[in-house]
Amino acid sequence: MADVAGKSAAEEREYSETEIAVHWREEEYVPPPAGFRGQANANDEAILERFSAEHFPECFVEYAEMLTWDRRWDTVLDASKPPFFKWWVGGRLNACVNCVDRHLDARGEKNALVWVPEPEDADIQEITYRDLYRRVNEFAALLKHFVGANTGDRITFHLPMVPELPVSMLACARLGVIHSEVFGGFSGHACGQRMADAESAVLVTMDAYYRNGELIDHKTKADDAIEEARKDGIEVEKVLVWRRIRDEYHSQSEMVEGRDFFIDDLLKNYSGQQVEPVSLEANDTLFIMYTSGTTGRPKGAQHSTGGYLSYVTGTSKYYQDIHPDDVYWCFADIGWITGHSYIVYGPLALGTASVMYEGVPTYPDPGRPWRIAEKLGVKIFHTAPTTIRMLRKLGPDEPPKHGYHFKTMTTVGEPIEPDVWRWYWQVVGKGQAAITDTWWLTETGGFLGSTLPALQPMKPGSCGPGVLGVYPVIFDENGQEVPKGSGKAGNICIRNPWPGRMLTVWRQDQRFIDTYYTKYCDHNSKDWRDWPFLCGDGGVEAADGYFRILGRIDDVINVAGHRLGTKELESAAIMVDEVAEAAAVPVVDELRGKIVEMYVALKPGFEPSDEIRQKVSDTIDREIGKIARPKNVWIVPDMPKTRSGKIMRRVIAGISNFADVGDTSTLANPEIVDAIREQVQAEKQARGESPKDLSQKEKEEIATFGQSSE
Ligand code: WTA
Repeated sequence: MADVAGKSAAEEREYSETEIAVHWREEEYVPPPAGFRGQANANDEAILERFSAEHFPECFVEYAEMLTWDRRWDTVLDASKPPFFKWWVGGRLNACVNCVDRHLDARGEKNALVWVPEPEDADIQEITYRDLYRRVNEFAALLKHFVGANTGDRITFHLPMVPELPVSMLACARLGVIHSEVFGGFSGHACGQRMADAESAVLVTMDAYYRNGELIDHKTKADDAIEEARKDGIEVEKVLVWRRIRDEYHSQSEMVEGRDFFIDDLLKNYSGQQVEPVSLEANDTLFIMYTSGTTGRPKGAQHSTGGYLSYVTGTSKYYQDIHPDDVYWCFADIGWITGHSYIVYGPLALGTASVMYEGVPTYPDPGRPWRIAEKLGVKIFHTAPTTIRMLRKLGPDEPPKHGYHFKTMTTVGEPIEPDVWRWYWQVVGKGQAAITDTWWLTETGGFLGSTLPALQPMKPGSCGPGVLGVYPVIFDENGQEVPKGSGKAGNICIRNPWPGRMLTVWRQDQRFIDTYYTKYCDHNSKDWRDWPFLCGDGGVEAADGYFRILGRIDDVINVAGHRLGTKELESAAIMVDEVAEAAAVPVVDELRGKIVEMYVALKPGFEPSDEIRQKVSDTIDREIGKIARPKNVWIVPDMPKTRSGKIMRRVIAGISNFADVGDTSTLANPEIVDAIREQVQAEKQARGESPKDLSQKEKEEIATFGQSSE
């Protein structure tokens, strides 16, 4: 590691009021493991030339040709109506055919999905491509004949991590029905709002599922969803209920005659039936995925069939290095875009075996993921920094006890602290697996920034350069390009269209333009070059073209005019040996506007102490500067997190400011909120840090702090 006693960058540079300050030091390059390159899908540097800017947009034909088309496209990219770009115009295909049917001849008896239930003594389900074909067709027949679903209709799923979820998705894809999966951990209320927005009158759910050793009731949420949708003007006509355990029903919610149906009962009528796949135009919609963390009307990212599928297939092949015979495990939830793109559509389009796990990573103990990996022979492992931190915290010595061997590992979802990256590399990957740190968004369909594992060295904490055919750029507040290597942060944008980008925000074209384009586009121009895509993240570009993501722009804490990225503060805190996780939030301060407060959770075996608090403060001081010195360092048992593991900073910001903590219904661990509140507020009051009267503007800032990254 670089010299930690070095002078802080804050002492060397002044920042203007609109700049986000950055103090990261450059990390070292790490080359891919020996022997990796020889077997890699992208092992020849010629690929970089094939995807170079002068070959845009034709370079992406390479991805489209990985798919099976009913009709080849007439036009690669129609950019005539920015920002409503269209790829593969006139091409026709079906996503289900690409993920299932086309593998039957060569790989029918190979596994498509391997499902690991949470109870460890339960049987693992292996679903071959032939089984999947049968299950998808039967459910598609049910949707067509019993529900009367037509191409273009929307159907909402509120399903946990069970194989019935990809089966349902692919059945919809077969019919050209647009699916909209709402993360199973979300409340019924959130589900209902999304149903109303999508004007979806059919809900597919499940009675119950296992989580942390308990069979939890899920169908009750359907009742709330229906009520909420009704308030918003949508009458739900049918609720289709999968049963977690055959012939049993584990919910307190009553089945409503004529509206609620058990799918397993109905499926008996469709046994062995096959449904003709509907051939769709490439720009027809495959699914809607609502983005998280938005206030007001939900924002449905509307993804295309041809552009999206080609993009997730190509990036799965080159960046995760998926070969058909690999066992691939993306440890994410399908209710999140990562699961759509990189558990279901990308891996299945490539004909590989995709592992799904029902439960929490540490159930019944933090060795569980490694036992699964060993037992199933997982070669490619894909998860989020929050899971990595959790496994490091609770089972730091577990991975070497298990005889699995990964060749690639992916991290996704938030910036990974270099310290955590090194644990992933050395302990989880045993120094033998190339890591791809993939930066992207729900809206972008697939990866935006990452390294090609065989060809570009890794750098801890940086995602890498733009991926093949994607050209990121950093703009300052005035739209000036921030040169690479300048050490300055700004708003990261993508210069060019790419096939994975969403078509629009469902039924909100103007919002699509306003959110992703208005800041930097030229509304009068018909040239795509005048329409860079605003990602909403702060970033810095190093001299070598590698990007380091600072987090969402609304996560920035403004201390006396210095804009500090939360991730940078948190990365510094986590350098303290005892610290497992950290979250930085703003506290309203009369003198300086805002001031930083730091929450940390410790690794097991350490007790909270003033010494640790002091170390955290000193490290932030040294790494970032006095301006960032936290007013308080709170050592808490755990952070409030979403079910996808993102820390809900607005909740702790609410506590620190004695303000409303807002909606906590989507928390994975709601009980922690009261515990933290009691601890922090009691101590604050004892110190005379009494509640301040917040202005309306301050209240809003606190209530939405970091919300777009939830
Ligand atoms: C953050 C998840 C740094 C980023 C695919 C982005 C990341 C938001 C990374 C989107 C990464 C995702 N490094 N930050 N590798 N991956 N992010 O829509 O702030 O759930 O804007 O999509 O996650 O989150 P979303």
